Amino acid sequence: MRTQVAIIGGGPSGLLLGQLLARCGIESVVLERQTKAYVLGRIRAGVLERGLVELLREAGCAARLEREGFVHDGVLIAYDNKQFRLDFKELTGEHVTVYGQTEVTTDLYAAREASGGVIHYEVEDVVIEGAEGDAPFVTYRIGGKNHRLDCDFVAGCDGFHGVSRKTIPEAVRTEYEKVYPFGWLGILSETPPVDPELIYACSERGFALCSMRNEALSRYYVQCDVADDLEEWSDQAFWDELRRRIPAAAADALVTGPSIEKSIAPLRSFVCEPMRWGRLFLCGDAAHIVPPTGAKGLNTAASDVHYLYTGLRQFYEEKDAEGLDQYSERALARVWKAERFSWWFTSTMHRFPGQADFDLKMQQAELAFLRSSRDAQAAVATNYVGLPY
Ligand code: APR
Ligand code: PHB
Repeated sequence: MRTQVAIIGGGPSGLLLGQLLARCGIESVVLERQTKAYVLGRIRAGVLERGLVELLREAGCAARLEREGFVHDGVLIAYDNKQFRLDFKELTGEHVTVYGQTEVTTDLYAAREASGGVIHYEVEDVVIEGAEGDAPFVTYRIGGKNHRLDCDFVAGCDGFHGVSRKTIPEAVRTEYEKVYPFGWLGILSETPPVDPELIYACSERGFALCSMRNEALSRYYVQCDVADDLEEWSDQAFWDELRRRIPAAAADALVTGPSIEKSIAPLRSFVCEPMRWGRLFLCGDAAHIVPPTGAKGLNTAASDVHYLYTGLRQFYEEKDAEGLDQYSERALARVWKAERFSWWFTSTMHRFPGQADFDLKMQQAELAFLRSSRDAQAAVATNYVGLPY
């Protein structure tokens, strides 16, 4: 079998890239290790920057998002019994859209199926060959049968645990990593959100976040120990802890109910350089991870897809490799800024085990400055709504 672009991984990065390419007549094959149900079962952040919304529009996948997504013009930040709002609209003229990543992925699958794009599920033992030359190919197995896919380019969209990044020789690859000494315990519940906007709360007992999917579905998080046993976090214990960490008015207004999903996620910052090796291009979680504070994971994947898609278009339509040659540099320039913002927001809002009193004072001063300075707020809002591509 032959295609123009072999896409490893059918998460949001791979599917969005495939759809954008399909719209301009560039063929691709998506190879996904899991089933579609498994991919859609993953619950991830749901805050979309304008750049991602525009890409989804360009991919012809934004109709439902435009109907069902919620425009958010600001967020609330709470600390030390104080609360202030970052007014995105006033500070930046922009907004974000709240629409679950699961919904984005569902829409991308529907579009791929409607356009007859090829996607193979339950693909095993993917190996990328010849990426450093002119004739790359991918071998894999489905149901015990061996296959080979020849292609012009390979897009490594297979997430943090995929094979693509590891295909880049260690001598060429540098990885930067920071693991945070805590995790997020998250629940999804069929209850109305406590506030129309997201609340990021820094409390003595640790961080908490009130988020949502729609008017009847809420997503809440509390900072926890990564080693915590999920079984020991009853729904009641979760709600009690959340109430202690959020502003009193929100705690009083909170509507609780049974969780329909509950999980603990570790927090990590990670970047792999370069993001290109010959004809292999890494996109999204395959190349970088951010801690979830600020919801930059999916949005950073989207900016990679933008740079790769424009590079591939330029190659096929204008026979110009400039965009592909610059891919790694352009993608990484934006990735590092998103890494910085996610690291800053995480470091400012969480309690660190054994935190020195001085460091605690610095956090408090950081938040007090943010509360009082329009310039500081504008800088945070600019990052939150998304830096330009
Ligand atoms: N072969 C084929 N597919 C693979 C392989 C492999 N060896 N390894 C992993 N995959 C698949 C995974 O099953 C998954 O569906 O690649 C996909 C990668 O998807 P994600 O991990 O979701 O990564 P990405 O598409 O880059 O999405 C961006 O943004 O909000 C963040 O982390 C969040 O998933 C989100 C990401
Ligand atoms: C979420 O809704 O899951 C979410 C929102 C904002 C974040 C992280 C997660 O910063």
